Parts: sequence; structure tokens; C-alpha cells
Amino acid sequence: MTAATPAIEVRDLTVSYGPVPALLDVSATIPPGTLVGVIGPNGSGKSTLIKAILGFLKPDVGEVRVFGETLDRARGRVAYVPQRGSVDWDFPITVRDVALMGRYGHVPWWRDLSARDREIADETLGMVRMSEYADRQIGQLSGGQQQRVFMARAMAQGADILLLDEPFSGVDAATERAILDVLDATKNSGRTLVVVHHDLATAAEYFDLLILLKQRLYALGPPELVLQPKLLSEVYEGRLKAIETLVSGKGQP
Ligand SMILES: Nc1ncnc2c1ncn2[C@@H]1O[C@H](COP(=O)(O)OP(=O)(O)OP(=O)(O)O)[C@@H](O)[C@H]1O
Ligand SMILES: [Mg+2]
Repeated sequence: MTAATPAIEVRDLTVSYGPVPALLDVSATIPPGTLVGVIGPNGSGKSTLIKAILGFLKPDVGEVRVFGETLDRARGRVAYVPQRGSVDWDFPITVRDVALMGRYGHVPWWRDLSARDREIADETLGMVRMSEYADRQIGQLSGGQQQRVFMARAMAQGADILLLDEPFSGVDAATERAILDVLDATKNSGRTLVVVHHDLATAAEYFDLLILLKQRLYALGPPELVLQPKLLSEVYEGRLKAIETLVSGKGQP
């Protein structure tokens, strides 16, 4: 592996659930240490792309490489941060225990977690600014706070790549800001993040690179290259109003 090895490389990826492919011939190269937004209308294949990068879905054609390795060999380097509210915590487990879950993959079955494992879990809770909630039950947190605990677990696991599907959906402005700060801090620690995002108005501000999808990859690059009216109206047909607002307002850098 060299410094130039991409964090994620998607090559000629076609993924189908039925007769119509959800993703068709998608190729994308994502450099390490970037915060990448995936945008596109409903049903455009954003979640499918995340699942394919995780290896949850088997492509019809094409492949995914993580730091130059196949997904089998790079297992553990990629972590999925589940959607808010998608996990139902009906058994009592503390925030610290959730972060510690990230360490179990590193511990052989015959030995218990070490003091160092506990330290790592606590450090990652600090990174997502959830230390003060360490002894709280996970079920007693807001959705945005739960999201941050899951990010801590992913980092405790040692993942270099975090994939998040719509982390901002349904959160208030303050929580959105808090999650964004954590995404930035995670990026600044050298990790790579791929984040499905719905709001075109904030996409330029939040992300280093954008991927614009609608079954095919329409664009991949810095926001100013991707958020072009012509391209957006082609992809978001029928949603021109949002695009007009975007290009005349705060969405353009
Ligand atoms: N499990 C499934 N079985 C069959 N079809 C599916 C399945 N999951 C997704 N699809 C179809 O694949 C296409 C892409 O879906 P996907 O969930 O990736 O879109 P998305 O961009 O994440 O949409 P949204 O913005 O609504 O979350 C859609 O046409 C969807 O109906
Ligand atoms: Mg989706």
C-alpha cells in the first residue's frame, strides 16, 4: 500500500435486487481522509451503494476495494453507523458497553477485555463528546446522541472508514451541528467518511467531495463541480424549485 492508495475504490459496479439494476456501472475513487456526501433523489441507489461498499450486497458485476484490498481481506476496516432509531434497545446496556462492543473483535475468546480496550472505548466516547453519558442506558438517549455512540463504537473497532446513511434525518439544528462536528473531527483523525445526505442546500458546506447518483454515477468531485444547475435538473427532474433555491442561495460555495 502506498500513500496514493484510495480508501475506497468502486469499479464498474452493477447491483440489482430484481430485473432493473439499482446501481449501473458505477465507478468511484475515494481518497483517504475525506468527508464524502452521497446525494441523489429517493430510490437513486444511495443506500445500495453503502451496502455494496460494506459487502452486504453482492454485485452482479464489478468490485469494491478498500485500501487496495478485497472486502474479505479488509473486513474490520469498514464500519457501518446504523440509522438513528433503527436499533431497538429493549435490554439495558450502557453507552460505555456499546463503545466496548467495538473492541470484542480484537480480543481472543479466551481472554477478557483489557484495561487498554476500556481506555480505547473511553477515548472514542470522548471524541464524540459523549463521555459524560458513559454510564447512561443507550435507550435513554436522544437519536442524535445514539448516533454519536455508534460512531464511537465504529472508531473503537479500529475502522478507518465509516459509512453513514442519512445521519441528519429527523434531528434538530443543534444536533445536526453536533453530528457534523463529530464527522469533521473523525475526518481530522485521518479517517474516511461516506455519508448519505438529503439536503442539497448544506451539501457544499458539509462535504469535501460529493457523489451524485441516480442509478448511474452522474458526478463525483468537489461540491462546486457537482452542484451545477444543469446536472442537478437532469438528476432531480420535477424538483426544480429546490435547485433554483440552491443555485441562487446559500448552496453554492
Ligand atoms: N431490498 C430491496 N428489494 C428490492 N428492491 C430494492 C430493495 N432495496 C432497494 N430497492 C430498490 O433499489 C432502488 C435503490 O434503492 P436505494 O434504497 O438504494 O435508494 P436510496 O437512494 O437510498 O433512496 P432513499 O433516498 O429513498 O433512501 C430503488 O428503486 C428501490 O426500490
Ligand atoms: Mg436510502
